[in-house]
Amino acid sequence: MCGIVGYLGPRETVQVLMEGLRRLEYRGYDSAGIAVFHGGKIEVRRAQGKLTILEEAIAGESLEGRLGIGHTRWATHGRPSDDNAHPHKAGSIAVVHNGIIENYLSLKKVLMEKGHVFNSETDTEVIAHLIDHFHREGLPFDEAVRRALGEIKGSYALGVLCEKEPDKLIAARSESPLVVGLGEGELFIASDTPAVLTYTRNFIFLEDGEMAVLSGGKVEVLDLEGKSIPREPKRVMWNPLMAEKGGYKHFMLKEIMEQPRAVTDTIRGRISEDRSEIVFEGLDTDEKMVKEINKIALVACGTSYHAALVGRYLIESLSRIPVEVDIGSEFRYRNPLVDEKTLLVAISQSGETADTLAALREGRKRGARTLAICNVVESSLSRESDYTIFTYAGPEIGVASTKAFSTQLVILYLISLFLGKRSGHIDHPHMEEFIGELVKLPHLLEEVVREHKEIERIARKYVHAKNFLYLGRGINYPIALEGALKLKEISYIHAEGYPAGEMKHGPIALIDREMPVVALATRDDTYEKVMNNIEEVHAREGRIIALASQDDKEIASKVEDVISIPPTISALTPMLLTIPLQLLAYYIADFKGNDVDQPRNLAKSVTVE
Ligand code: G6P
Repeated sequence: MCGIVGYLGPRETVQVLMEGLRRLEYRGYDSAGIAVFHGGKIEVRRAQGKLTILEEAIAGESLEGRLGIGHTRWATHGRPSDDNAHPHKAGSIAVVHNGIIENYLSLKKVLMEKGHVFNSETDTEVIAHLIDHFHREGLPFDEAVRRALGEIKGSYALGVLCEKEPDKLIAARSESPLVVGLGEGELFIASDTPAVLTYTRNFIFLEDGEMAVLSGGKVEVLDLEGKSIPREPKRVMWNPLMAEKGGYKHFMLKEIMEQPRAVTDTIRGRISEDRSEIVFEGLDTDEKMVKEINKIALVACGTSYHAALVGRYLIESLSRIPVEVDIGSEFRYRNPLVDEKTLLVAISQSGETADTLAALREGRKRGARTLAICNVVESSLSRESDYTIFTYAGPEIGVASTKAFSTQLVILYLISLFLGKRSGHIDHPHMEEFIGELVKLPHLLEEVVREHKEIERIARKYVHAKNFLYLGRGINYPIALEGALKLKEISYIHAEGYPAGEMKHGPIALIDREMPVVALATRDDTYEKVMNNIEEVHAREGRIIALASQDDKEIASKVEDVISIPPTISALTPMLLTIPLQLLAYYIADFKGNDVDQPRNLAKSVTVE
């Protein structure tokens, strides 16, 4: 959601902060700001809008210093404005904050009674005043932060500076991610590692209820009682180039094109040499895993939820274990039937989505075993789950999720095979055949990616459409939902995904020349039925874009455009259908001139409920 970066070291601090913010901008971007220790004072510069506006505001200024914090904001409390942008300064204290302070109104009232004057509508400003208040009462900077943390309720990742401490940066976290980066003679803080990957790959991942004091070239991690906690840094495997555009116009396009590689990396090492077993470190030694569970609950949000919907088809058909799927924000509110015989699987690219985390915690409370499918090492979701299986998509920067989705699907194939084998529902030949097709996937995806020029040509024709309908059946129905979501997110065109069989119960009323219909019509068990739907749209003069099997020569006469999909087993078609839909959405949005990587109102990782 919002992004934090902080620096203490010999480089040009403003440059480090601005570069870090640029890499974090995808997390939230209605305003941005920096605070730099310059000439014995903390100088704050803030601007509503994109980072370029802040850049223009500070251009020509010489803000040299060796200590600073920066922030990109996605508004929660208080509309986007210069005054509501972070950092917030009160007295000698400057603060950047991600999260929400729940008791800020009562704290604000007390502080105002004590004479504090507030300049913004944010919850964050309360933190700065509170620390300043304790500091004025005589507590040293570290102590004042600790006291303030004891008073505030809610979620936070914080970076704090004090005008009287030119060599000290304090960081703290509770339910909002924050890392400390350790370089040679320099230290960083960031809400996400890609912000500072250019400088270091060694990180301390702060846990909830911890604060870090960066000073004198060292980092001390403390709990909220002030007790020192020994923490070893971890080395992350992502390299800085993975977080660069690599010559593509947008991160999203790069991430779409990277999918063959991401899928290869996610499969690698997880299939035994004789193709008879799926290997998941940690999970495979738990013999009771399948014997003791009688139900699987999948929870996720957004695109990850669509992966979960595909997962239900796969797990039920390959392992015969009943599966329920819930949207993260709904799960807790329906008193779910979950107990110690349930395996709760939470799917999340970031591992920080508040609603998915809340669903995981609800499941745990009810005794469920928990498994996270996650792309970010050391994320909250992975830390709070009994098991984690990582997708190796690499950093996903584009707000609209692409490669994370396909790698989540890969993990769901592997889990289904794993459970199918353990439950005795898959025999060796079936397993071998399935795995044989699975390992061919990266090549097939390469083939699909090569079609991008044709998809770009098709996209150009539909730029002015106001509505889109996506139809799919069976395991491809969630892909219709995902295709529609991608289009909505980045092109702002209204789009709906529908199970093709339901078209006659409503959406058919909308069909006319103005309503393009994207039909997922690969040859599988439901092919004939989807063809009937295509006939129905055709008869009403609807314009159809069909995604069809390469060998389907007849379909072209019924539809306006065809995108060809290489042959595979029907269970794997979701993987091959996804990329053309991502590309279609991408090119339409790009032709419209939209900011594809940072669509309006959306955030990459939604860490508030
Ligand atoms: C946000 C993003 C989506 C993403 C969803 C879930 O809405 O814009 O792209 O699918 O969050 O994110 P997660 O990190 O939990 O997969």
